[in-house]
Amino acid sequence: MNATASLKVTFCGVEFPNPFCLSSSPVGNTYEMCARSFDIGWGGVVYKTVGLDYEVTITHPSPRLNAMHRGPQKVVGLQNVEQISDRPTDANFRDLAKLKRDYPDQVVISSIMGLTHANDWVELAKRSQDAGADLIECNFSCPQMTVEGTGHKVGQDAAIIEKLTSLTKGACTIPVIAKMTPNVADMLPMALAAQAGGADAVSAINTVKAMSAVDLDSLVPLPNVGGRSSSSGYSGQAVKPIALRFISDMARDERLKIPISGMGGIYTWIDCAEFMLLGSTTIQVTTAILQHGYRIVEDMSEGLLDYLNDHNLTSPHDIIGKAIPNVTDPDGLSHEHQVVSEVDPELCVGCGQCYLTCRDGAAQAISMTADRKAVVDQDECFGCLMCRHICPVEGAISYKTVPHHGPPGC
Ligand SMILES: Cc1cc2nc3c(=O)[nH]c(=O)nc-3n(C[C@H](O)[C@H](O)[C@H](O)COP(=O)(O)O)c2cc1C
Repeated sequence: MNATASLKVTFCGVEFPNPFCLSSSPVGNTYEMCARSFDIGWGGVVYKTVGLDYEVTITHPSPRLNAMHRGPQKVVGLQNVEQISDRPTDANFRDLAKLKRDYPDQVVISSIMGLTHANDWVELAKRSQDAGADLIECNFSCPQMTVEGTGHKVGQDAAIIEKLTSLTKGACTIPVIAKMTPNVADMLPMALAAQAGGADAVSAINTVKAMSAVDLDSLVPLPNVGGRSSSSGYSGQAVKPIALRFISDMARDERLKIPISGMGGIYTWIDCAEFMLLGSTTIQVTTAILQHGYRIVEDMSEGLLDYLNDHNLTSPHDIIGKAIPNVTDPDGLSHEHQVVSEVDPELCVGCGQCYLTCRDGAAQAISMTADRKAVVDQDECFGCLMCRHICPVEGAISYKTVPHHGPPGC
């Protein structure tokens, strides 16, 4: 193994010791929290979004979270009704300044949101730069802001994104990132509008507007805030496929020239590598930290470094966007070949789950022998591989590629 890789990345001209950042949220709410995350190894912090408190007082509904669990697996998704920072604006900028003073080598990103006037963005941009922030992230994307005309409503309107990005850019000399909402059918026009307004990068995704559950006794959806609930931001593992979709959509389009900071359901170094392969230069995380703490960055660093070294690569830049040439629209997929399943009788435990899914959801190509071994009729199998996805025994069902033999039963 050639152990020479470094995790340093350059994003918008700013050098990060590694690509791993806290995303803007309660995980980066105070100086003390961010400092502790830097001590553990995070390369950057996107500080909790700051507004101007002399215009609007922010209070958070309580409880502000509802978690989705699946059997023993905790927090497969997380719904929150939290708004931007409820701390005094001055205290936030004081913390930000102290953070940059004490950690000059780590990257401090100020997340801002104007609340009542377009010019709020100008004031917040100036104050961010004066506090020493390396970059600014414009929060165009929170789905549960109660201040009219803010949050993801801004992020759904390309003309407003362009205008506010341009105002922010005009007020500072540090790079500006536009944070995108996934609550749109197509993110690309919004990203292109940010670019037209002068954004140096885009970040995605903020939370997906969702409703996670209803309490069957009280009939109140969750989280139950004083007897009522609301659809609001969903994050964590459940949103990772949505995030990867939007990030790859943007990375595939050559009109978008600016880099991407990716987030949404990142837990492990493998998630990080996937986001980078699909076009993210830096990585941001919230929900995994809420669940497991800052220490997850140790696994991310070690895993990504090993991956680079194992592939004889020296930098994360060697993998950014490298999976994009393998992405196409559905009409670009090959129809010449198909796969067919194969069951290893030595490993088959005879549970019959593959038989059931094939019978009730596919080609009726799997039968069970008298001694309860699954057998695939490969002439009938149309290769959906659902049997393989649900098989409880790793390796018991494999597949091979054959010429496409058309629909089953013909
Ligand atoms: C409780 C909570 C509060 C959040 N607050 C903010 C915020 O103030 N500003 C912002 O831009 N994003 C905010 N986010 C969104 C996250 O930064 C991130 O975009 C989203 O959660 C997806 O990443 P994840 O799946 O790693 O959590 C918040 C998310 C959560 C869960």
